[in-house]
This record gives sequence, C-alpha cells and structure tokens, in this order.
Amino acid sequence: MKVKITETVLRDSQQSLIATRMPFSDFEGILETLDNAGYYSLECWGGATFDSCLRYLDEDPWERLRKIKAVCKKTPLQMLIRGQNILGYKHYPDDVVRLFCRKAAENGMDIFRIFDALNDFRNIEVCIDEVKKCGKHAQGCICYTTSPVHTIEKYVEMCKELESMGVDSIAIKDMAGICSPKEAYDLVKAIKDANIKVPLFFHTHHTTGMGPMTLLKAVEAGVDGIDCAISTMAGGTSQPATETMAFTLNQFGYDSGLDMDKLKEIADFFVPVRKKFLDNGTLNPTVMGIKADILKYQVPGGMLSNMIANLKDMHALDKFDEALAEIPAVRKDMGYPPLVTPLSQMVGNQAVQNVLLGERYKNISKEIKAYLRGEYGRAPGEVNQKLIDRCWKEDELVKGRYADSLEPVFEKTKKELGDKARSDEDVLSYIAFPQVAEKFFEAREEKESNTVNYTIEKKED
Ligand code: CO
Repeated sequence: MKVKITETVLRDSQQSLIATRMPFSDFEGILETLDNAGYYSLECWGGATFDSCLRYLDEDPWERLRKIKAVCKKTPLQMLIRGQNILGYKHYPDDVVRLFCRKAAENGMDIFRIFDALNDFRNIEVCIDEVKKCGKHAQGCICYTTSPVHTIEKYVEMCKELESMGVDSIAIKDMAGICSPKEAYDLVKAIKDANIKVPLFFHTHHTTGMGPMTLLKAVEAGVDGIDCAISTMAGGTSQPATETMAFTLNQFGYDSGLDMDKLKEIADFFVPVRKKFLDNGTLNPTVMGIKADILKYQVPGGMLSNMIANLKDMHALDKFDEALAEIPAVRKDMGYPPLVTPLSQMVGNQAVQNVLLGERYKNISKEIKAYLRGEYGRAPGEVNQKLIDRCWKEDELVKGRYADSLEPVFEKTKKELGDKARSDEDVLSYIAFPQVAEKFFEAREEKESNTVNYTIEKKED
C-alpha cells in the first residue's frame, strides 16, 4: 500500500524550529535532490515564509517560489493558506483572495492546503473555488482541537461538508501536536468508515513526542498521506523525521515511494545549515526537547512561548501559571475556537490581561471584540452572550459571511501604490503586509540605484 509523504523542511519545519529564517541560498543546492527523492509534495510557502522573506531575508517571496519551481519540476509544490485571511490575520475581500490564488498558481504553486482558524468553511469556499478554476489541487483542511464540541462525529461531518464543496483532498491539521495515537486512529478510521472518497492527509508536530506514533496509527487507520521533515530538521516542535517514518512504514509493508539514498543526501545537506542556526542562536535547543506539558494544557508550543514573551515584557513572568490556567475559561467563553493563528494569540493575550488586571474582561482586546461581533466567522460552540452584549448591539453583529461586507481593494491599492509596485504580485504583497512590503520596495529601489551608480562609476574608470 502506498503512503504519500509531504516534506515540510522548506516551510513548517523551518518555521517551527528557526522562526522561518532560512534564506533561499541555504536550500538552493538541495532542491534538485528534493525533487528527485519521490515525495508526494514539497511544502514551501505559507503566511510566515512569505512574511519572513519580506521582513527579514530581503527576498521577494514570489521570486522565491519561481526559483523553487524552476528546479522542482516533477514534485508538486504545496502551500498553506488561511482561506479568506490568505497569509494574514484578518479577512480580505474576495477580489484579493481570488487574485492571490491565481497569482500563486501562475508562479508555480500546485497544491493549496486551505484552512480557516474556526473551521468555518464559508471562509474557505472562495479560495477553494478559485484554486479549482486555476486547475490546481484544493486541499480542504480541518484544524484539530479538543473540546466538548469537537467530537469525532463533528469532524466526520466537516469532512462530508468539505467533500461536497469539491475539494481534491482533505487534511487534518494538528498544529499543536496534541492528537494522540489513539485519537488519530479513531478519527481517521471514523472518516474512512464514513466513506469519504477523497484522499486524507495528516499533519502533526513532534512537540509532545507522540508525533511518529500518531502518524503510524493514522496510517494503520487508512490515512493516505502524512507530513514529515528530513531528520536533520525534524523532531521537537517540527515534524517527525521523514527517514524514520519511511523506514518504519516500509517494514509494515507500506510503500512511501522515497529513495533512501536521496534522503541521506538531503539530511547531510542540512547538517551545516542547522549548525549555522544553532550557532547564531536562532535554533534554541529547548525547542528540540519533548514537552509533555502540552498534553496537560492542550495549547500549541508557539502559543506558550508567545505568552512567556508577553509576560516577560510586562515583568510579570511569575503570573505564567495563573495565565495558563485562565486559557480554558477564555476559550470556553469564545465557544471553543481551535488554538491556531490568529486565535491562539488572541486567546493567549486575553488570558494574560485577565490575570494581570485581576479581573476577567476588565479590558477586552480589539481583536476579541471583533471576534465577538462575528468578524472571524462562526465559533464552533456557543459564545458567552453576556460578553457579546457588553460589546455590541444586536443589529451590529455580523450575520452572514464577513467577507461579503468587504469592498474590493485590489485595483484601488494598485492605483495608490503607483510605481512602487512593479507587478500585481507586488500589490498583493503590499495588501498582505503593508509596512513590511513598503520597506522591502524601498530597499529594493535603493539597492538597484546603488548598483546603477556603481556600474556608471565603473564605466568612468
Ligand atoms: Co504545522
């Protein structure tokens, strides 16, 4: 039996281990081998990779995509896209979502893993529709979480809904790495028993140490594909190791289609890369350890480190345990949203505020207010009505799909940007990350004028 393996080293693995700081030049030399190793797909793009290219690496993310595609012609390229939020933290109007998908497809993207933080599929339908129109693979994604309203039946229902929306495949995204081997087995089995026809993929993290077991049980239950990271960039907050999974699955009679010699080459290639980030402090050895705490708190590792950073800034690190204990209460009031970007940050920050101010919701953040209004979509469970009433009048609440209330912005922004944007891709970068993109455009301008001056001086010699 065949099991499809997606390699995450270019996206989630480096995002989870080294805050997405890997420049193109660090992996350029291994792209051809990656393309020939037999992977089902190469995950290489997403919100953080896009942002980091512009913000820290002085790279045009679109150009990075084209450069990867120029070498990787056989293996489909894959991205993670936040549905109506595309790469950011708020909802964009449909014109932006559609053009973004179209441009990503034109520049080389093949598989779009599309999710909504609340699993409100109204927020991914336009994205799915456009990806299909572009003739590309639309993978509907379900964010996995545990709560009284997140039952196996509910997840099966979600899969049916996704299938009826015309997705080419479905992914279970366990972004916090909290899905246990048993839960994964039961969930995948239930989905398969429900006769869902499209291929099913499973994504998890090694954070709690359960990762490889969870993936193995998911495969035993009939999952079609899993996400792994090459061993030298695996483990800890990253994915389970590709070679380990391929070796294990092979012994059980599954065929990963992977070339073990090529995998060895890829693993060796990343040894000095990893060392560089370890030496410069970007790779903190603590992310490589196993955090069993997460089993207890059920919150993603990234959210924990975010809360610690917040509390440190406010010289209130001693309140950490209290803030952690506050999360379940806030999450219940919000109707049990999955703790994934941006909700993980919103819930975490509100919990910190509640504890620091010594009173629940004395101060309600702008984002939580917008959430209570319905700007993020439909909550999985019931939201605390008292909180809604405190912030909004009944007629102010968002009733339908929030993006329906948003005016198109692409053409307007393009006009405003004028010469600063050299392509529609530039305009999209700007819409997604305005300040960061603007700085990037200015730096690009400057760099080029310096090059021109240099050439002129040269000529004068
Ligand atoms: Co992930």
